[in-house]
Amino acid sequence: MSTQKQIIVEQFGGPENLLIKDTEIPTPAEGQVLVKLTSIGMNHADLLARKGFYKIASGEPPFTPGIEGGGIIEKAGPNTTLSEGTRVVITPDAPRAAAGGFGGTYKQYYCVPESKVLPAPDTIPDNQLGALWLPYLTAWGCLVWKHGIKAGDIIAIPAASSSVALAAAQIAKKFGCKTIGLTTSQDKIDTLKNMSTAHYDHIVLTHDKDTDGNRTMLPWHKEMRQLTESKGVNVFFDPVASGSYLNTEIKCLAQFGVVYVYGLLGAPDTVDVTPLIRKFASITGWVLGELMYAGEDVWRRGCNEILDGFADGSYKQHVDAEYKLEDIQNAHIQMHKGQHIGKLVIVP
Ligand SMILES: NC(=O)c1ccc[n+]([C@@H]2O[C@H](COP(=O)([O-])OP(=O)(O)OC[C@H]3O[C@@H](n4cnc5c(N)ncnc54)[C@H](OP(=O)(O)O)[C@@H]3O)[C@@H](O)[C@H]2O)c1
Repeated sequence: MSTQKQIIVEQFGGPENLLIKDTEIPTPAEGQVLVKLTSIGMNHADLLARKGFYKIASGEPPFTPGIEGGGIIEKAGPNTTLSEGTRVVITPDAPRAAAGGFGGTYKQYYCVPESKVLPAPDTIPDNQLGALWLPYLTAWGCLVWKHGIKAGDIIAIPAASSSVALAAAQIAKKFGCKTIGLTTSQDKIDTLKNMSTAHYDHIVLTHDKDTDGNRTMLPWHKEMRQLTESKGVNVFFDPVASGSYLNTEIKCLAQFGVVYVYGLLGAPDTVDVTPLIRKFASITGWVLGELMYAGEDVWRRGCNEILDGFADGSYKQHVDAEYKLEDIQNAHIQMHKGQHIGKLVIVP
């Protein structure tokens, strides 16, 4: 029996619950392909799953975390059309075991029906094949499919250094929008300004940090007023969305502006929504699941447009660090600290 390394969570809890095991490498049956994973994108959802707060994907223990993956077809089963050696991305629906998928991707080999992989353009490096959907499909689904951004729109993107924000800025620029990144870190501003993958027209600092890392919010609406020439922001694409931060976003919105809340990085707090009335503006939630529920033809359109964007050079990922499966506990600790820029990936 040939074996592979696979991460298994036997009980919910801290990083110490990520156990590395030897499991059998499956043989692809009729219509299936066995993919040797070269890249597994890490996501906050994996940390939540480990803790037991994302059962919609993980189900109950024992389970293998991981909702993204990509690599090279090692073996093609009978009656398949893709040949061995083809570089592929696993489709975004495949790993969601609790929703009828094939289970998590934190392992070396992934066996799925051929319909659950998409051939990747050569422009995507091997270490990024499994790190596309959470950043790019989350941003594409909200900005392009749900909102319908158009040339000239002003898109403000909090957590500017995050992988989803970097993807959102690239997509918004491809559509001819003006992009303003917001970050809590002065150090990250300097790095982002020198990064070819950070497609921000401007970057605004929202917080001061003391030596213990405690944040105090700055009056950043003043800079936003200047940058938007008092017109305001058409769309905030926001994973922070807490009290005073959200109040400032509301203050910065243009007429008919929208704040899309897609993350839980800030702490819940009181918000004054009354200015929304005179601006005909709104706050609404966004989750990738909405795109998935919209149907396979819709999310596949998103996947194809994103792969095309990589092929024509409009999109390019920034990978901050790579981890081996053996180092997975440390990888989760690093992701929780949030000092990275862009994507963290496992290269199994
Ligand atoms: N709704 C969905 O479908 C969906 C899909 C994917 C991800 N998400 C969520 O989106 C968020 C970002 O994911 P990611 O993988 O891109 O994250 P990431 O790469 O780990 O980036 C996190 C960044 O957010 C900023 N941040 C963290 N805490 C903050 C706070 N309290 N106030 C302001 N900024 C804060 C920091 O950036 P700066 O230093 O630049 O400020 C931090 O580096 C997560 O909450 C994730 O769960 C949601």
